[in-house]
Amino acid sequence: MGNMGSEKKMPKRITVCNSKGGSSKTSTCRNLGVIAARSGFNVALFDLDEQKTLTNWYDERPKNMVRMTLVTGTMADIGEIAELDDFDLAFIDTPPLTTGLAEDSDDRQMHELMRKVIAVSDMLIVPSGQQKEDWVSSIAWMDYLKMRHAKYAALLSATTRRSKSFEVAKNQILRAGHSLCPKDIPRVEDIPLSYTYGIGVVEMKGAKGAEDYESVWAWLRGELGIAAKAVGE
Ligand SMILES: Nc1ncnc2c1ncn2[C@@H]1O[C@H](COP(=O)(O)OP(=O)(O)OP(=O)(O)O)[C@@H](O)[C@H]1O
Ligand SMILES: [Mg+2]
Repeated sequence: MGNMGSEKKMPKRITVCNSKGGSSKTSTCRNLGVIAARSGFNVALFDLDEQKTLTNWYDERPKNMVRMTLVTGTMADIGEIAELDDFDLAFIDTPPLTTGLAEDSDDRQMHELMRKVIAVSDMLIVPSGQQKEDWVSSIAWMDYLKMRHAKYAALLSATTRRSKSFEVAKNQILRAGHSLCPKDIPRVEDIPLSYTYGIGVVEMKGAKGAEDYESVWAWLRGELGIAAKAVGE
């Protein structure tokens, strides 16, 4: 932090969310967070999922790896996140957010929570699997985000590119009128393996999935209008 250049509009907050559980939200947060930190950005990770999957990963993190700040909380803390700015980039991990998608739903708490989430986020990433049960939920979730005028995009994750369902998923998301990251993350064992070591796939020598997350990061930088490397202090 502390850069006075007027072109540098930091901090940026990226919220990773979906109504669907197990859609690669935490994997997205930790892998993009690590890449951003290795590019010199001051990265904060917010774990708002009471399962603490991201926190448990962070607790395993070897001391010699690039530093990030971790804040553990719950969705009720979303309002306070707007007050925090001692970082360049924040990746906000959320639990599956399942209730009251329709605008006329009387789930006021959910709507109020999502209003805050969208207000604090420069971008929302919606990771999704490629099977119908995945993209139907993801599209419904993105319909909601769109209705609330959020800036968001889907990120197909844990994909099997050779399966017909991969093309079907991309077509369905695009035809529903939603933005889709042009790069997907394939299903590779190095992603769960890197979790057990407290690292990102880019920190594992020769790991599969590393190049893919690097490309997603490059795309995300373009979306947010930020430089490849953090500007020095
Ligand atoms: N690209 C991938 N290849 C292989 N396994 C993956 C990939 N992405 C995620 N996984 C695995 O799938 C499982 C679910 O992923 P993850 O924990 O990131 O999802 P989540 O959306 O955060 O889940 P939850 O809703 O429980 O918070 C984990 O075991 C994770 O390691
Ligand atoms: Mg998770």
